[in-house]
Amino acid sequence: MYNSKISGLGYYVPDNVVTNDDLSKVMDTNDAWIQERTGIQERRHVIKGGEDTTTSMGVKAAKIAIERSGIDKDDIDFIVFATLSPDYYFPGPGVLVQRDLGIKTVGALDVRNQCSGFIYGVSVADQYIKSGMYKNVLVIGSELHSYGMDMTTRGRGVSVIFGDGAGAAILTREEDTSKGVLSTHLHSEGQHAEQLALIAPGMGKRWVTDILEENDPNDESYYPVMNGQFVFKNAVVRFSEVINEGLQANDLEVKDINMLIPHQANLRISQFIQRKFGLSDDQVFNNIMKYGNTTAASIPIALTEAWEQGKIKEGDLVVLAAFGSGFTWGSAIIRW
Ligand code: UT7
Repeated sequence: MYNSKISGLGYYVPDNVVTNDDLSKVMDTNDAWIQERTGIQERRHVIKGGEDTTTSMGVKAAKIAIERSGIDKDDIDFIVFATLSPDYYFPGPGVLVQRDLGIKTVGALDVRNQCSGFIYGVSVADQYIKSGMYKNVLVIGSELHSYGMDMTTRGRGVSVIFGDGAGAAILTREEDTSKGVLSTHLHSEGQHAEQLALIAPGMGKRWVTDILEENDPNDESYYPVMNGQFVFKNAVVRFSEVINEGLQANDLEVKDINMLIPHQANLRISQFIQRKFGLSDDQVFNNIMKYGNTTAASIPIALTEAWEQGKIKEGDLVVLAAFGSGFTWGSAIIRW
């Protein structure tokens, strides 16, 4: 019997800081609205035409995680890459990481679970390690949102929220089963798929050829859409459920949580959960103020920063929880 433990963490964000005031120059928005509704002060956007891509940011985060874990890149047995913003329509970025890290021909899996993508990836990695199949699995969450958002007033309900960046973790075999990933809990509810989605281009309704043929300057179908209030209401319920589910599965209580790392969707959602569970400021980590919502990257970036700041110590109970497009949601209960 094995567990998996997180043996190395890393993140990378582009240098280019975009403040709320910067956004108010290109669309009808303002710092007060954005901060009041989301807590976001700034986010990072890659420079268009520059070197950063979803894959390259993931690779940079991965290199740090590999170095910190103390393994060699050739010790990686499997790659899991979570993103909603891949470099190519296909193949996914997992194989590009295998190429760009210059590692042997290990398997590479792409996860399409948006804000829950990193937790789904950790769950897959954990199960491969628990089964004995693999010893070291690289899990990456990376997003390049800024190329694909509607940066006009029409898109302001979405485009002020999301930012670019990447985080990565190495999961490694742990023989002491009281440590590491104790359990993961995954859910989906596809009936709400279109409430937070990017519909085109896709094989379901509109492909690139349809978009080109119609050549409609008012076409919004290739921008992400979000029914914000509906997503918000579902998020607070599902976050609570899946944290409780994880605690109960391990006979743990809320008071046992040392650090909750919620997916950084909205500071108001995190604060709602914090109040609901009666957690102190030391027990919840948020960095959405600096990076916005980086979807699959948000949890590994936050986890890395919390760890770098000495807020996660050996023996701590760390809870990861996410909710987002799909809808999908999940939690991971980790004894550090
Ligand atoms: O990570 C995946 C999961 N995502 C989430 O969990 C996000 C959940 N939802 C939310 O965080 C919030 O719903 C938002 C932050 C997206 C929006 O906040 P809200 O309080 O739900 O605002 P709203 O969409 O109801 O919009 C209120 C008003 C509207 O104007 P009217 O109709 O009241 O005149 C919007 O047009 O605010 C307007 N508005 C803005 N104003 C300034 C929408 N976006 C902006 C903006 N700047 N960027």
